[in-house]
Amino acid sequence: MSITSFPEGFVWGVSTSAFQIEGATAADGRRPSIWDVFSADRAEACDHYHRYPEDVRLMKELGMAAYRFSVSWARIFPDGGGKPNAAGLDFYDRLLDEVTGAGITPYATLYHWDLPQALEERGGWPSRDTAARFAEYAAAVHERLGDRVDTWFTLNEPWVAAFLGYGSGVHAPGRKSPADAFRAAHHMLLGHGLAAQALRAGGAQKVGLVLNISPVMTPAQVSDFGRELSEEDAAAVARIDALANRQFLEPALRGAYPAELLPVIERHGGLGHLHDGDLETIAQPLDLLGVNYYTPLVVQAQPSEPADPAYPGSEGVLFCTIPTAVTAMGWPIVPNCLSLLLGRISREYPGLDLMITENGADFVDVVTGDGIHDVDRISFIEEHLRALRAAIDDGARVRGYLVWTLLDNLEWSDGYQRKFGLVHVDFATQRRRMKDSALWYRDVVSRNGLAETRPRRPTLETVAARAGVSRATVSRVVNGESSVSPEVRAGVMRAVKELGYVPNLAARSLVTRRTNAVALVLSVPRQGGDTLTSAVVQYVTSLLEGAGKQITLMLADTAESHRRIAAHVEARLADGVVLLPPDRGDTLAERLSRTEVPLVLLGKPPIASLVPYVDVDNAGGAAAATEHLLARGRRRIGMVCGPMDLVTVQDRLAGHRAALQRSGLTPHLAPADDLTRASGAAAALRLLTDVPSLDAVFAATDQLAIGVLQAARELGRRVPEDLAVVGFDDVDAASATTPALTTVRVPVADQALALARLLLSRLEGRHTTSVVLPTRLVVRDSA
Ligand code: FCB
Repeated sequence: MSITSFPEGFVWGVSTSAFQIEGATAADGRRPSIWDVFSADRAEACDHYHRYPEDVRLMKELGMAAYRFSVSWARIFPDGGGKPNAAGLDFYDRLLDEVTGAGITPYATLYHWDLPQALEERGGWPSRDTAARFAEYAAAVHERLGDRVDTWFTLNEPWVAAFLGYGSGVHAPGRKSPADAFRAAHHMLLGHGLAAQALRAGGAQKVGLVLNISPVMTPAQVSDFGRELSEEDAAAVARIDALANRQFLEPALRGAYPAELLPVIERHGGLGHLHDGDLETIAQPLDLLGVNYYTPLVVQAQPSEPADPAYPGSEGVLFCTIPTAVTAMGWPIVPNCLSLLLGRISREYPGLDLMITENGADFVDVVTGDGIHDVDRISFIEEHLRALRAAIDDGARVRGYLVWTLLDNLEWSDGYQRKFGLVHVDFATQRRRMKDSALWYRDVVSRNGLAETRPRRPTLETVAARAGVSRATVSRVVNGESSVSPEVRAGVMRAVKELGYVPNLAARSLVTRRTNAVALVLSVPRQGGDTLTSAVVQYVTSLLEGAGKQITLMLADTAESHRRIAAHVEARLADGVVLLPPDRGDTLAERLSRTEVPLVLLGKPPIASLVPYVDVDNAGGAAAATEHLLARGRRRIGMVCGPMDLVTVQDRLAGHRAALQRSGLTPHLAPADDLTRASGAAAALRLLTDVPSLDAVFAATDQLAIGVLQAARELGRRVPEDLAVVGFDDVDAASATTPALTTVRVPVADQALALARLLLSRLEGRHTTSVVLPTRLVVRDSA
């Protein structure tokens, strides 16, 4: 097997941060940080504070050489100042013993966004004093842990902390003031400088800073970076680059703010907070620049556009969506940008050592009996590693790569729904399970490189990364366009051959635009799917239009319309098809799947096929509903089912049966003729008359459950005292019944998003599998 190997001594590892994993927010004297106050209900996280031995063991099993963690300031100085809290330091002492004992090199970050609330109350980062407090904190932590930590990162992503925390207010502490945001940014930089001095005075070996550096470009540049820009677009790109990147890079590495930024800062609260000598303090020698890369920033000039609150001074700049696949977070996946940005930093700051301190992706994970097959995450990391390798070949001094992140965790304002981990965490039990990506990464680490012969189709992206050119260039070569120089052409053809790349329709269409439309086929009528259908229309349209596709909306309601749709797709008038099949009797999916045009379905089809679909975990949701009734002491549980030929109904029934069986109980079933309330009421009347001793009813949908409530009223049964009732779907009406309905929530927007994302991935020739989204029990009054 041939291997794309990395330089000898290349450091592989993972990154985490304190607030996102530790939990134990009141343990051993810790007091609240701004994040505890900002998102009060989320304290437990991964309970890493108590489970760190297991987490370190996982890293050891994965062969990690490096672990970047962050120290919680609020554990060390719970009130912001005074004497350091010994019990807080003790935790990191234990953690470091464990980490170094496992042969893993620790990298410490001092500030990963969790300012002690006590300091926020004294003005937070907009106050200059916070910078001095930060340096004291750095010194105290170094004094206790410096014997085991060589590399100290002062700040993590100060742009995010300053501009989302104090500018747009979507992060803690939630202030919305451009002036505060600029002041916070400056004081963070000052804190970095002062802390760097304190660390060095204490004898620290290496001091670094972690920045989220986002390449900034126009939509057209994403596939063709060399493209010339209009003056207006060039100015828009430069402005956002100054705000997002150069605002931090230049003071830290050159001791100056970008000249064009100063008037912008001045307009937002003045320059009074920039004191003489600050920039010298900030520009401390840096041993290592940590680079966090996820996605580029794509902008263009748009005169009427108001400023984005996260980028004060961005009037006249539009933030754009672009033609590419995205992660579940909605972030465009553009691995080439990693090479681009490393090349840029290496050119602008020659001699600087770099480390990728974060890179990773949120995807919807499906837990199956035989593991978590997160192929999307593997592709994401692999493609970024190829881009990284290309940058190293071009001379970037990148010393290591750390995946964000070890564990599924608390993703700031987004809570627990985001899944960035190599390791899955079940937050109900705190059980950890390695995903396929963890095992795959373990192999990468152990061979210090990527295997060339992974049985996966190489993409346009892979060829571009290998040949060190843009996707558009590959596309041009593949399409035999003459505008490419012979050297570049030879390089691309070599990469194509080595990787065994087979161009697909999407690759060709990138340049030729031979087909540029996606068909969105809606079957009518569909039972009770109105909100879902409209969400699908909305998401599919916006995501795919953002990707440069036109949407052809087609209604499949008659045999004639089926014929027309099939002819349309067979004639290749669509790049891809999103199909919302009818509830029963679908023949279109089968027919369309024979055309080789990428197809994705909403809902699991009745007959197993290779066409990927998006569905919710119907069986799991029904089992959870039934288990809830059991946990409330109900033992004689009936079920009002819908028509048994509906796949959804079959799955919900299967989950219900399985849960009863585990408790040694037998089901009592009443099928309804359709999914209307009236049919639900009729089925429930039959059921409760036949088996009067029932003390609970689970209904396959909320509409049926509302019918059950009606029937219960007619029979004089009190809900929930005599009869507990649970529905499914969490439709709007479910919270308006008396008593309000306990039900199972299905994620509507996520299904729509997943469907759009699945088609985009297929259009890009990525490997895709069906997506089954988790459901959640919503407990109200009826059970
Ligand atoms: C970065 C943060 C990290 C995590 C990832 C997804 O901006 O540093 O804590 O939230 O994004």
